[in-house]
Amino acid sequence: MSVSEIFESMEYGPAAESAAEAKAWLAEQGSTFGHFIDGEMTARGDGFETRNPATGEVLATLSQAGSADVDAAVAAARRAQPKWAKLGGPGRARFLYALARLLQKHSRLFAVLETLDNGKPIRESRDIDIPLAQRHFYYHAGMAQLMESELPGRVALGVCGQIIPWNFPLLMLAWKVAPALAMGNTVVLKPAEYTSLTALLFADICRQAGLPKGVVNIVTGDGAVGEMIVSAEVDKIAFTGSTEVGRKIREATAGSGKALTLELGGKSPYIVFEDADIDSAVEGLVDAIWFNQGQVCCAGSRLLVQEGIAERFYAKLRARMDGMRIGNPLDKCIDVGAIVDPAQLDRIRVLVDRNSEGETHRAATPCPEGCFYPPTLITGLSPASALMQEEIFGPVLVATTFRTPSEAVEIANNTRYGLAATVWSENINVALDIAPKLVAGVVWINGTNMFDASAPFGGMRESGFGREGGWDGLLAYTREDVGAKALKPVKAFKGDEANPQAVDRTAKLYIGGKQARPDGGYMRNVYDKAGKLIGQSPLANRKDIRNAVEAARGAKAWAGTTAHLRAQILYYLGENLSARAGEFARSIDRMTGGRDGAREVDAAVNRLFTYAAWADKYEGRVTQVPMRGVALALREPCGVIGALCPDEAPLLGLISVLAPVIAMGNRAVLVASDAFPLIAADLYQVLDTSDVPGGVVNILTGSHAELAPTLASHMDVEAVWSFSTADVSAVIEKGAAGSLKRTWVNNGMACDWMGPTGEGRAFLDAATEVKTVWVPYGA
Ligand code: NAI
Repeated sequence: MSVSEIFESMEYGPAAESAAEAKAWLAEQGSTFGHFIDGEMTARGDGFETRNPATGEVLATLSQAGSADVDAAVAAARRAQPKWAKLGGPGRARFLYALARLLQKHSRLFAVLETLDNGKPIRESRDIDIPLAQRHFYYHAGMAQLMESELPGRVALGVCGQIIPWNFPLLMLAWKVAPALAMGNTVVLKPAEYTSLTALLFADICRQAGLPKGVVNIVTGDGAVGEMIVSAEVDKIAFTGSTEVGRKIREATAGSGKALTLELGGKSPYIVFEDADIDSAVEGLVDAIWFNQGQVCCAGSRLLVQEGIAERFYAKLRARMDGMRIGNPLDKCIDVGAIVDPAQLDRIRVLVDRNSEGETHRAATPCPEGCFYPPTLITGLSPASALMQEEIFGPVLVATTFRTPSEAVEIANNTRYGLAATVWSENINVALDIAPKLVAGVVWINGTNMFDASAPFGGMRESGFGREGGWDGLLAYTREDVGAKALKPVKAFKGDEANPQAVDRTAKLYIGGKQARPDGGYMRNVYDKAGKLIGQSPLANRKDIRNAVEAARGAKAWAGTTAHLRAQILYYLGENLSARAGEFARSIDRMTGGRDGAREVDAAVNRLFTYAAWADKYEGRVTQVPMRGVALALREPCGVIGALCPDEAPLLGLISVLAPVIAMGNRAVLVASDAFPLIAADLYQVLDTSDVPGGVVNILTGSHAELAPTLASHMDVEAVWSFSTADVSAVIEKGAAGSLKRTWVNNGMACDWMGPTGEGRAFLDAATEVKTVWVPYGA
C-alpha cells in the first residue's frame, strides 16, 4: 500500500513487535524447562508442549510435575520460611523492590513472551499486564516495609500453595506472590498449563534478584499438579480459576485447617442508564468484554441497557465492533488477539452455537483462521436464558434491556456470581445509589476493568471469597499471633432420665422476634452438675433452620439502618442485660456448675458495649489508585450469617457472635451452646425489650452436629461460623462448597472468650464484605 493510498483509506498498516528477544531467551533455555525448586531449575521431566495459540507453533516443552516434585517444592518452601519471616519486613522489602525493578527492566521481554504464550494483544500485555505486575511488587515491597508497624501482632501463615489460571499469567502470579512474600510466607506456585512461560522467566528473575532459595518455587503441569498442591502440607491455598475447580478445592481442604481464598468466575453486569455518555459507554464495552478476548473473570459480559436508548446504543456498538481489528497479537494495532487454546475456542463455540434466542451480530472485520473468535453481540435475550447465566469466557457479549433502576438491580443480581459490575450514568446520585445494591465485590462507575494493587479485588457468592490487593488482601496472608490451644469438649450434664422430675421451665426457639415451638416438637432435659433437672430445651431440626433463615432474610431492612441506630440498640441490649446481671449470673452458675457466672455476664455486657462502639467506626478506606479518582473500599454486611456458638461460655459465647454480626448490619441465625442451651431462652426477653427488630437475631437450640450440615448448605445463608466443641469444621466447610459461602471455623482450636481474642477485628472482618467502588473524576 502506498503512502497516498494510506492517507486515502486511513487504514492501519502492520506494526508487529519483534519476537526475537523472547525467542532468543527460549532458545537459551534449550526451549525445555524443568521446575524451579529450592532456587534451581530441575532437569526436564516428562512433559508437554506449550504453543503460541495464534500460530500453533510450539514454543517450548514443559515438565509435568510428579508428587516427588511437589513434595520437594513444599519441603524447600518449608525450610526457607522461618528465615524469610525472620528477615523482617524491611529485609524482605529489599527483595520485593529488586523483583519489581527487574520486572521493569525486562518488561519488553515479559510482554512479548506473554503475548506469544497466551495470544493476548501486545498492547495489553505491554500496557496492562506487565506494568500492573510491577506495580504489585512495588506496592507490596511497601507493605513488607510497613508490616511490623502497621500490622502488629500479625504473622505469616507459612507455606502458601498458589494455583493460577491462563488469562493473566504473570499478573496473577504477581497478585499471589507479592503479598505472600511481603508478609513473610514462602510459596509453591503452579501456573496454568497453557501459559507457564512468564512464570518460568520470573523464576530466572528471582535468581537474578538473589532471592533466598526456596522462597519461591514454581512447578508446572495440569490440574493433577494443582490437586497435589492442594493436598500437600501447605498452610494456605490461593486459587484463581473456574468455579467448578474452586468448589473441588473447597471440598478437598474442608476441615484441614488450611486457609483458603478463591477467586472464581463471573457474569458481570454492565449497566447503561439512558443519561449515560453513550460514546464513552460503548468505548467502555470494548475494555469490558473484548479486553483479553473476553477471557477475563470480571468481564462485563452481560449488557443491561435502559430501554429508551437501547436501539441507538446497539447501533453504535455494532458500528464500533465492525471497526475492531482481529489478528496477529504481536501487531500493535490489533484489538483482539487469539483465544488461549483450541479447547477454549471449542468451549466458546459450543456455548454460542447452542443458543437459538435473540439476534447475533459478529464483528464485520475479517477474523483469521485458527484460534480466533470474532467479537460477538447477542441482543434480545431474556434474563433467564442460558447465555445470560453461563460464563462464556470469550469475546461474546449478551444483552437485554431494563426500564427502571430497580429493575436494573434486579436483573444485574439475577446470577449465581458476584464478582464485578459496571454502572454508566452521568448522574452520580444514581450511580452511587445503585453501587451498594449490586451483589459484586467490585463496582466500576463510568469506567471498567480498572485494577490496582491498592484496591481490593474479589467476589461474592459463587465468584469466591477473599480479597486480593490493598490492606484487606494482607489478611489472607497473615494470621493473628495467638498461641493456639486445643478445644476441650464440653458435654451436657446427665441426669436420671428414667425418673422424670417436675419440669421447672420449658424453653422455646426464637424466630422472627417471637418465641416458637420446635417444628419436630422434640425437647431434651437439661440437668445441672448434680443431675437435677433444670428445664427442657427444644431440639431444632432442619425445618426450624429454614424458618429462621427465612425470618432473617425478611429482616433485610436491618442492613439499611444507620450504624448509629445499630450502636444505640447494642448499647440498649447491654444496659438491659446489665440490669439483670445477678439473675443471669446465677443461671450460668447453675447450668455450668461453675462460679464464673458474674464474670461472664460482666464480660458479655462489656462486649455488647464494645461492638456498639465499633458499629459506626469499622470503616472502609479510600484507596489511592493511580488515576484521577478514588476507589472506595466499602465495608458491607455479608447478609445472613449462621453460627454455631461456643459451648463453653454459654452467654458470653452467644453475645460474642451475635454482637459483631448485628453491629455490622447482618442478620443472625445462631445455634446456642449445645451443652448449656437454656441461657438462650433467658436472652429472648432481653432482645425483646431492647428494640432489636424481629428476624435480625434468631436463636435455635439443639445438636450442633445435627444442625451443622443444614446451616452450612443453606443457599440463603451468606456465611457460616462455628465455635462449637463438636467436630463439625469439616462438615461445615464441605457443606459450604455448594454455594461457595464464606466460612470461619475453629478446627478444634480454643478461643479465650474472656480475653481480648474473643472480640475485635477478626470478628468484624468476618462479618463484613469489602466492596470496592471505583469513582473516576472528570467534568
Ligand atoms: P481451571 O479452573 O481448570 O484452571 C485454573 C487452574 O487450576 C490451572 O492452573 C489448572 O491447572 C488448575 N486446576 C485444574 N484442575 C484443578 C484441580 N482439580 N485442583 C487444583 N488445581 C486445578 O480453568 P480452565 O480449565 O483452564 O478453564 C475452564 C473455564 O474456567 C474457562 O472456560 C472459564 O470459564 C473458567 N476460568 C475462569 C478463570 C477466572 O479467572 N475466573 C480463569 C480461567 C478459567
